[in-house]
Amino acid sequence: CTEPESTGPATTVMAFLPLSVACLVLLIMTVHPEEKPEFWRQQARAVLRLALDRKLNTNVAKNIVLFVGDGMGITTVTAARILKGQLQNRTGEETIMNMDTFPYVGLVKVYAVDFQIPDSAATATAYLCGVKANLNTVGLSAAGRNGACRSQKGNEVTSILKWAKDAGKSVGIVTTTRVQHATPAAAYAHSASRKWYCDTDMPAAAKAQGCRDIAAQLLSNTDIDVIIGGGRKYMTPKGTRDPEYPLDPSARGRRSDGRNLISEWQHTKGGKVARYVWNRTDFDAVDPATTDYLLALFEPGDLRYELERDLSMDPPLSDTTEKAIRILQKNPKGFFLLVEGGRIDQGHHASRASMALHETVELDNAVGRALELTGDGDTLTMVTADHSHSFTFNGFPFRGNSILGRRPSLRLDMMPYTTLMYGNGPGHKIVNNKRPDIRGVDTGVDYIQQAAVPTESETHGGEDVAVLARGPMAHLFHGVQEQSYIPHALAFAACIGDDQSHCETTPPIPRSSAPTSPAAWLIAVLVPVLQNLLR
Ligand SMILES: *[C@@H]1O[C@H](CO)[C@@H](O)[C@H](O)[C@H]1NC(C)=O
Ligand SMILES: *[C@@H]1O[C@H](CO)[C@@H](O)[C@H](O)[C@H]1NC(C)=O
Ligand SMILES: [Zn+2]
Repeated sequence: CTEPESTGPATTVMAFLPLSVACLVLLIMTVHPEEKPEFWRQQARAVLRLALDRKLNTNVAKNIVLFVGDGMGITTVTAARILKGQLQNRTGEETIMNMDTFPYVGLVKVYAVDFQIPDSAATATAYLCGVKANLNTVGLSAAGRNGACRSQKGNEVTSILKWAKDAGKSVGIVTTTRVQHATPAAAYAHSASRKWYCDTDMPAAAKAQGCRDIAAQLLSNTDIDVIIGGGRKYMTPKGTRDPEYPLDPSARGRRSDGRNLISEWQHTKGGKVARYVWNRTDFDAVDPATTDYLLALFEPGDLRYELERDLSMDPPLSDTTEKAIRILQKNPKGFFLLVEGGRIDQGHHASRASMALHETVELDNAVGRALELTGDGDTLTMVTADHSHSFTFNGFPFRGNSILGRRPSLRLDMMPYTTLMYGNGPGHKIVNNKRPDIRGVDTGVDYIQQAAVPTESETHGGEDVAVLARGPMAHLFHGVQEQSYIPHALAFAACIGDDQSHCETTPPIPRSSAPTSPAAWLIAVLVPVLQNLLR
């Protein structure tokens, strides 16, 4: 049995009991029903029945809700699932998250045009604009070069958010980072650098060549109905005191051009009800039934981690998601909403696994909230990630071991190690030719997991990420696909963008006409592509 952990609710109880009794209790409480073959057989039969009864949903998607976990690789999903269960005092592994209920799942290849392992800018351009791109660029094809303003012109690519708006739908962005950050930026901006948050962040040459900062493009490009996240300081003139942190110089406005984009935003929505809020009191008071536009910026930069948030000032992601949906769903033509759990990635970069996992749990809570407010009949809901991390889930911990816990190493260095670790990151350390001894160390909330290689910031991982879908045409998301496939298929399902054929041809192509042999598949897929290219 495992040594008592200081982390994890189940183990708090165990600490008060002799180890052997604790193990016995654990055995009786959790393992017992699972020892019966019928437990697994019944479960399998129920799931099989669901699969056999499932009809293809070929409706037109009136609404699209796209959830993106920034840096939410599959390891992160599994670990967050266990955490979610353990937060409810269960062993954890058997937990069914909201995202686990999505019937269609595929894998997505995330590489960028110039890098084997991508960043959030290149990947957001792929899954929002449908075109693979170069590292650090948003809303540009791969002809756009990182940091080169001159390479922007003519290479802009538009996003599914714009396609939806052009089709008369309402559109929104909800994130836990600043709203000018790479992921949301690719939905509305075109920038050779993801770092050009405001004009002060741009080189003089880029400004002279006519490139514009991302915050300015938030106002001037697509007319976005709901914008929720952080990033106040990129919107106000240099030196403007922040309403929440008036004494903090780093929270002050950063714009050199003297513009106040927040008040400009409020004044461009003439005749409509447009609300700007920066705290929870005002946010909670926003009535979705009477609000046309909402701009909510809860922090000068990124929001705080869920675990560190002052909930009296800033709402959790599930609440912001709900508010956005309630405002957007008033449009009879439907809506497109991008919801980003943006700080999963930042938790991993800091190698604070607990932060990354709690952010993931809250993203899943937001998924649950969205499912309560919409229906599979007209809403296509997707959960995916932009890329993974060098995050690993390893060892042979017993069932129900705290996901933030450890195992004793019985080999080689005889030192315990945590189940969750990183390939590289700030947690690398060698003391007396050995890894740090973590016996007696709290490996919970504030712990920085060990890493094999020292880096200031842990890096992304390059393996495929999952794409999960439910609702109209969700079956289009299966197999192994390029990340750039995502918005094309979403748009097809919703009859927005170039391809309207889903609204013209119902019923869809009968399944029996689908080619089955690999050769037939190649011919069916490649010939039209080649014909198109040669046209
Ligand atoms: C889990 O157990 C702890 C300690 O017994 C308790 O304080 C907490 O309320 C429980 N949580 C849930 C979700 O049941
Ligand atoms: C929230 O913002 C409004 C508008 O600026 C302000 O009047 C109010 O005092 C703020 N509430 C809190 C709790 O800071
Ligand atoms: Zn990152």
